[in-house]
Amino acid sequence: MNVLSVIMGRRSIRNFEEKPVPREAMDRLIDALLWAPSAGNLQSRKFYFVTDAALRRKLAMAAYGQAFIARAPLVVVACADKEAVSGRYGRRGIDLYCVQDATLSAMCMMLEACELGLGSVYVGAFSEKEVGKALGLPEYIRPVALLPVGYPLIVPDAPARVRAEEAVVFK
Ligand SMILES: Cc1cc2nc3c(=O)[nH]c(=O)nc-3n(C[C@H](O)[C@H](O)[C@H](O)COP(=O)(O)O)c2cc1C
Repeated sequence: MNVLSVIMGRRSIRNFEEKPVPREAMDRLIDALLWAPSAGNLQSRKFYFVTDAALRRKLAMAAYGQAFIARAPLVVVACADKEAVSGRYGRRGIDLYCVQDATLSAMCMMLEACELGLGSVYVGAFSEKEVGKALGLPEYIRPVALLPVGYPLIVPDAPARVRAEEAVVFK
């Protein structure tokens, strides 16, 4: 598959088969997230790979009851590492760069998941406090996204996109 067809073919998947994600596939996801760009190459992000069922249920509760999260065999929690950027970049590093580092890694991981025949969805609606409590995160690790991953049971139709002219300005 070429990159654009993976980008256009990826859908948010919220229904998963019960089949676990094999370790070799997780290793490919890890490669994809490690090789994302990051501010100053400080790689100020941390990823938690959660397969434990009780913990997945806690994450679903922390995401205001989005039950599909508990039903995914793997939930990757993408976090920003504020400590890793604060020294070099100060406030901008803490407020922005580490969040961008985590998000770009998440996107790369989702595209690799798609290429492997796995589905995923970017979940941003959750209580940071509750996710932090469930995972025992230190204060400087900020959860940015929950990424349920698994083999798709239902692949929805592609939701429409705005026309290019609405999103892009040539100057
Ligand atoms: C910042 C952000 C937050 C999102 N939060 C949620 C969420 O909490 N729950 C959910 O089911 N989907 C969530 N999504 C997924 C979007 O609904 C989805 O990407 C969008 O509808 C487009 O569909 P597609 O990914 O299949 O192209 C989120 C996506 C982004 C980028």
